[in-house]
Amino acid sequence: MRPLAVIGNVNVDLIVGPVTPWPKAGTETVVDHDELRVGGQAGNSGLAWLALGVDFAIAANVGDDQFGRWLRDAFGSRAEKWPVRPESTTLSVGMTHPDGERTFFTTTGHLPRFSLADVFTVLDGNRLSGGYALLSGSFLTDDLTGDYEAFFDWADRHGIAVALDTGWPITGWTPANCAATLAWLSRCDLALFNEVETVTLAGLENPVEAARKVRSSMKKGATFVVKRGPQGAIAIGPDGALVEAVAPDVKVVDTIGAGDVFNAAFLAALAQDQPLSVCLSAATHVASRAISTLPRNYGGPMQFEDVAHERT
Ligand SMILES: Nc1ncnc2c1ncn2[C@@H]1O[C@H](COP(=O)(O)OP(=O)(O)OP(=O)(O)O)[C@@H](O)[C@H]1O
Ligand SMILES: [Mg+2]
Repeated sequence: MRPLAVIGNVNVDLIVGPVTPWPKAGTETVVDHDELRVGGQAGNSGLAWLALGVDFAIAANVGDDQFGRWLRDAFGSRAEKWPVRPESTTLSVGMTHPDGERTFFTTTGHLPRFSLADVFTVLDGNRLSGGYALLSGSFLTDDLTGDYEAFFDWADRHGIAVALDTGWPITGWTPANCAATLAWLSRCDLALFNEVETVTLAGLENPVEAARKVRSSMKKGATFVVKRGPQGAIAIGPDGALVEAVAPDVKVVDTIGAGDVFNAAFLAALAQDQPLSVCLSAATHVASRAISTLPRNYGGPMQFEDVAHERT
């Protein structure tokens, strides 16, 4: 199996609810449900890899508080070298509403100070050679994002393929955020975006055409994946061919991190040199299962039939 790493945002999510109607200032509302969980795009993907029994590295930082220590514990020895910032750990408080909507209150916390030096503290370029590095949470990790070009140079030098899932920009898909994303993608081997992100980036309504257009500005032989929620996913592969996967019909209980779980399963399959159609199908199945199970279930260790072995 090829080596895997995720680089980006790990933070604390505190989910409470359901709440309705919106409370008046100065009142207290008693809710039925609370859940404290490891969150952030990189955190979500890392948790999925842990559950899938896949070996990986995770580069992140934390704040200097109990939450930071708790996040670090969740990743054991993989988090030993994570730098500790003087800021409080980024906390996202999410309120669920009976109609399935969510409202979030998020502190700035430790994430903006995650830096390229921090990444190099944790990751060993030689060990990742020939593998994949997933960059996530681009619009939250300001210091690192400012050094993305140097990160791409480092990845090129070590023969590491870079996959990008920026996540949704806090300021929205402004022309500046689209331009920055397209510039990063020109240095990437893999794009893992959802449908709205893809059509917005391309300025085209059709997701297949949009994926083809953005992919044409990426590295030669790049793969562009479009995540389509209940509709599954499509991808334009290294040869330019379109591949599609249908999502299983499930009853959703909690969609948080669906895309990040998808990314983890997709890369786990790719790292085992599976064909694109198998990677896409594995990713949709693992993601759909995760968001429809409580407590979350990823389907256990991810193993593929060895086709060559089967034939003998
Ligand atoms: N309603 C749903 N029913 C079944 N599967 C779903 C549903 N929503 C998401 N999924 C699964 O999760 C995968 C990724 O979800 P989605 O396309 O919503 O990504 P995303 O928008 O990047 O998610 P995120 O909100 O985490 O950023 C889908 O390809 C699908 O397999
Ligand atoms: Mg997403």
